[in-house]
Parts: sequence; structure tokens; C-alpha cells
Amino acid sequence: MKKPTNLLILIAVLAAILLSCNQQSNSGGDQKMTAFIDDLMGKMTLEEKLGQLNLPASGDIITGAGSNNNITEKIKEGKVGGLFNIKSAEKIRAVQQIAVEQSRLKIPLLFGMDVIHGYQTVFPIPLGMSCSWDMSLIEKSARIASQEASADGICWTFSPMVDIARDPRWGRVSEGSGEDTYLGSQIAQAMVKGYQGDDLTKNNTILACVKHFALYGAAEAGRDYNTTDMSRIRMYNEYLPPYKAAIDAGAGSVMASFNEIDGIPATGNKWLLTDLLHNQWGFNGFVVTDYTGILEMVDHGMGNLKEVSALALKAGVDMDMVADGFLGTLKESLDEGKVTQQEIDQACRRILEAKYKLGLFDDPYRYCDVNRAKSEVFTPENRQAAREIAAQTFVLLKNDKQILPLLNKKTIALVGPLADNRENMPGTWSVAGDFAKSVSLLDGLKNAVGTEANIIYAKGTNVVGDPQLDARISIFGKPTKWDNRSQKQMIAEAVAAARKSDVVIAAVGESAEMSGECASRSDISLPENQKELLEALLATGKPVVMVLFTGRPLTINWEKANVPAILNVWFGGTEAGDAIADVLLGKVNPSGKLSSTFPQNVGQIPLYYNHKNTGRPLPEGKWFSKFRSNYLDVSNDPLFPFGFGLSYTTFDYKNLKLSDSSLTATGELKVSVDLTNSGNYDGAEVVQLYIRDMVGSVTRPVKELKGFQKVFLKKGETRTIEFSLTEKDLRFYNSDLKFVSEPGDFKVFVGTSSAQTLEAGFILK
Ligand code: NOJ
Repeated sequence: MKKPTNLLILIAVLAAILLSCNQQSNSGGDQKMTAFIDDLMGKMTLEEKLGQLNLPASGDIITGAGSNNNITEKIKEGKVGGLFNIKSAEKIRAVQQIAVEQSRLKIPLLFGMDVIHGYQTVFPIPLGMSCSWDMSLIEKSARIASQEASADGICWTFSPMVDIARDPRWGRVSEGSGEDTYLGSQIAQAMVKGYQGDDLTKNNTILACVKHFALYGAAEAGRDYNTTDMSRIRMYNEYLPPYKAAIDAGAGSVMASFNEIDGIPATGNKWLLTDLLHNQWGFNGFVVTDYTGILEMVDHGMGNLKEVSALALKAGVDMDMVADGFLGTLKESLDEGKVTQQEIDQACRRILEAKYKLGLFDDPYRYCDVNRAKSEVFTPENRQAAREIAAQTFVLLKNDKQILPLLNKKTIALVGPLADNRENMPGTWSVAGDFAKSVSLLDGLKNAVGTEANIIYAKGTNVVGDPQLDARISIFGKPTKWDNRSQKQMIAEAVAAARKSDVVIAAVGESAEMSGECASRSDISLPENQKELLEALLATGKPVVMVLFTGRPLTINWEKANVPAILNVWFGGTEAGDAIADVLLGKVNPSGKLSSTFPQNVGQIPLYYNHKNTGRPLPEGKWFSKFRSNYLDVSNDPLFPFGFGLSYTTFDYKNLKLSDSSLTATGELKVSVDLTNSGNYDGAEVVQLYIRDMVGSVTRPVKELKGFQKVFLKKGETRTIEFSLTEKDLRFYNSDLKFVSEPGDFKVFVGTSSAQTLEAGFILK
């Protein structure tokens, strides 16, 4: 190794001085905060301290067992720490005024909201956003959401949701970033940065809340709120890293999940909320429960409300969402010695610190400037950004004979239950959206073609055939708009429209509330009535393009085999219709890649690319072999693999090269590949890098994503894409839960999806 030069030494000394100055100034800030809070807490009664831990249901949206009981009186008495899901700067200002003018200590309230994928300008659902594989766009979407929400009174969002999910029966896969740990961790960081910016005291940044801590995405059988059970080694390697990434990015709060972990509900799990979160990961924010999370521990069988409230506090919960357990029972528990004053003080301090960090003690109204709300929300610029971002999230699943983009079509039949439905465009958890202002696909196509083409619209069928099911999926202001005509009549109208047209666009799939919270499905295929519509349309012989709306991977085998073009558009947000038209008509070339595997049938679930090999792997190229790990009735293959997505152009991968045949603990390995845009359109490609650790002290996945780059190439252009791998990238948690790398053989794969890659090998020395 070379000796460091004098210059390098000087730089290192200067950097150390700068760092220590910075730390001093930070700790100066911390000291000021501590002194302020010490002083304030010195004046607080026990009731007022417990009040800070209380987050009652009082918003415009009530999703569980909450009710609005005498909130104003409670605020005056100092018995409320924050409120959530109240919409509008005016309302929030009025409520804040009660707290700071009529309560004894004038402590401002926190105002939270489920700002999940945008505020009033709604971006695609998170699962869709993750398919953009574009961290700067994801950060930008969170930035805009934060700008809008903060202008309308909100200073705290219950996002990002970073639960790894590998079971598409679970409706909440729509709210997360899919199945992969690495991609999910990158997105978690980008979201936190977007919301919190670099200075939380600015009035356009808001506090992030990482949820649902932890493992909520592993609910058994994909049934919402169900039990989870998982080995520690799997938790550490696969499920926990995205939460940790969000904490490392500075997320100021964490939401405990509904599920149990190792037999103890997360809300009462001290190992999770204190040992891991605070002690191992160094988290210094506060923990809030999920909605009625404390009360739910009664049904989990952990004791009565008083007992479970004490359990939650001792485990590390700081704020009680809706259960009324902290406010209602902790005083008695303190008197009985079941909890300590110190535990209550610690929780209270964490809530007050968050308020301090947000600058609420300096100006409690800093987030409710009514003029800002008028000029910064749902602006043309924000909507334009949402439109551009949405177009990056669509995944082209099939495009036979290059049906897409649609060129020179004079008459277009637009058919299907999702074609003319503005309310369903934003997708699930779009609390602040004004659904009627969304752009439907019909609106978007009309905007795009103007007078150049004729659009004939027909609904064709309802979203589902069963009116009772329809009622269950038509909630939260997102009606499917049930049509009372018979299926036969509607299909006949659609077929007539198709016959008169050059091409048929079939807008089919799920409605917005067929995924999201409490929207599990045991059958994740397209509803039969919609399939019938597709069959009838295909029978006309006209080219059919399926525009698929969905909040989860679906088992669309028949559609894949029979419909010539499929564009998966998830739920694209308020600007969905314009963005879809941009892609259908070729203004934007699709570049989304799946962040979740599409299975062939529900029997294969959980199906994910980074599985283990087993001792009896199926020989390559076969789909069944006796006494191997497989099924009698279906191959092990996915319908569409993780990382998959087509473009209007084609990309060729050549010359995968490694800078060396080995890597040392301090070295760096360069991995390069030549990428050529070999088709007829300019376009973007997500180049994916995976590794496989061939031999380990514990079994390792057959592939693991370790890097990706989204690159834009002009048609005909070739570029060498380079990645760098170091020993750190090869680390994993071993059976002692130590984060290590182990010397030996590795494979590296680079390609267009997890299933289509070039391959090389190296040794870690
Ligand atoms: C329940 C959901 O699980 C959570 O994600 C959400 O933030 C809260 N309700 C608050 O609305």
C-alpha cells in the first residue's frame, strides 16, 4: 500500500476538525432542545404528560373502531398530543389555536396524515412507483407530497410503508415497494429524504413515519392483520433492511405493525421496539402504534386494556393511536407500580422532541398558512410532474407485432369498467385527493387525440359480476359505478364499438379498493365477467390492447396467452389518464420493470426470484422431475419475473466483463456490460446486477439484486454500463446474526430482468 501524502493527511485533519465542529453544533442544538424540554416537562402534570402520548381518532377519515369523543375539551385539558387525517389548513389552524390558546401549557399539536403517494396531486400507488426504479423521481414525488401536505397543515406523514411483501393475495402489496430487500431499501431512503428534506424545521418538509414495524408484509395466507412467524436470520437478511435504511436516512418516527413477532404483538414487543430499534439501530425518534394497535392486543390475548397499555409503554411505544389506552389507564398502572414515571417521561420527551424538531414551538402555525394552501397544492407544475412520473411506472408486459404504440389510428374503441372512472385512478390510500378531478383514461385519450381520431366508448362490463362484492369494493369515495344493464347488453355494445374501430383498448382489472388495507383476495385473477368481455372483443378479430389497472400482481395466464398487448398501469394517480395516453400513443416509451413476481397461480405463492436453491433443485430447462422441488400441475416459473418489463425498442446486452477474477476485502471489482438500443425508438432500460454467493455457512439465495441503473439510450446507441462491487456488498447475516462476508466463489449476473442475464464469476479472497 502507498504511504499517504502530506496533502492527504492535511485533508483528513481538516475533515476531522470540520466533523467535530459540526457535531458540537449539533449537540449544541440538542442541548438547547433538552433544556427547553426539561423546563417544559418540569411544569407538566402527569395528565398533561399522558396527553402528549395520545393520538385520538378525530380526523375526517375513520377506518377502524375509533370515534370522536369530546376532542375539543380534551385538547383544552392538554390531553391530546396530535391528531390525524384532518384535511385543510383552515381546519387545522382552528384546532391548533385551541391547543395553543386554550390549554394550560400551550403545547402545539402534531397533525398527521396518510400522505402515502402524494397529497392532492396523487402519484401512482407505491407498488407502481417502485416499478420506475428511479430513485430521483421517487424522492421528487415525496418532496412534492411534502410540499403540498405541509402547505395544507400537515407536518407528519404515515409513510413510507416499507414492508417487504411476497404474497399478492395481501391487498397491501399495493402500498409497498414489492418483494426485494435491496430495491426496497433504496426506495425507503429516497422517500424519507423526499419528505424530510435536509432541514425538518423548514415549513415545507414533514416528518416521515416508517411503517409497519415490522414484518407486516409476511401475514400468513395473505390475509390482512394475520399472524407472521419468521426466523431471525430471514428477518435480518430479507425483511428488516428497508426499515433500517429508512432509520439510517433519518426518519423521525416509526409505526408499530398490527402483527405479532415471535408470539408477541409488535405493539408490545420490547425486543423489536427497544432492543433492536433504539439500542441496535440507534433510532432517536418516537414510536406510534398503528390504529387501535394497543386495544388490539386484548384480542391477541395479551391481557386487558390496562395490562396491554403498560406492556406497550414498557416495550417502547411512545404514542397511542386511537386506543385510548395510555390516557385511560397509565395513571393507574403508575400508582400500582406497573409502569414507572421514567417510562412515561421518556415517551413524553420523544413526542415533545419531534414537535421541537419540526419547529412547532417557535411557530405552531408554520404549516397552516392558508395562502400557501391556495397556491401550492394541486398546481399545474405538480400535476405535470405526476403525469411524467406516472408514465415511468407502467410496465409493458406484452406487445406482439408491435401493436403499441398506436400510430395513425382513426377510430379507437375504448372499452372496459376502468375506462371512464376518474374516482378510481388515484388508487388506494389517497386520502387527500379530490377524486373527481383525476384524469380518466377516456379524458386522457380525448385530450391526446383531439380531433385527429374518433373514440368510441363503451363500458362493456362491471368491475365484478357480483353486486355484493361490488359494494365491498366501492368504498372511500371510489365507486365502481355499478351498471344495471345485463352483461349481455353491455358486451354487445362493446363489441359493436370494436367492430367500428381500428383498434380496441380494453381498460380492465381491479378497482382501486380491490387492493390496499383489508382487501385480501384468495383468487387474484381477472373477474370472470371481465374475461368474458375480453373474449368477445378478441372474437371480433380487431387488435386488442389490454390496459391493466391493478394494485397487485395478478394471475393473468389466459390474458397473457390470448391478448396481443398488455400494458400494466397499476393506479397511476390523479394524472393517470394523460400518462397512459402518453404511453399508448408513443409520446413516452415505457420503461417500468416489475418489483414483484407475477405468479401463474395462487398455489405457487410465495413466489419470488431470490429464493433458496433447496437440496433438490429442479434441473434447468425442465418443469417437472420426480423427487425434485416442483409441482405436478404447474411449472416453478413465474408468469412474469421480478425485474421484467418490455419497451417499444429492444436492448441487447453484450461483453459482460469483470475487472479482475478476484476481489479482496479492501478492493473494488468493476463489472461492465455493453448495452445497445437495437430497436426503433429512443428509450430507457433498467440494467440490473445480481450476485450469487455459491457457498456459505448458511444457505444463500440463488440471486440477489445488488445494483441497478436506469439509462436512456437513443436508438442505435451503445453504452458501456459500469457497476462497482466491494466486499461490503457481499455481506449477509450469518447464524450468529453477525453481518459478514465469507470468502469463496461468487457469480455475478447482469441483464434486463432477474430471469434474463449474462453471467460471470469471481472469488472473494
Ligand atoms: C391503519 C393502517 O394500517 C396504517 O397504515 C395507517 O397509517 C393508519 N391506519 C392511519 O390511518
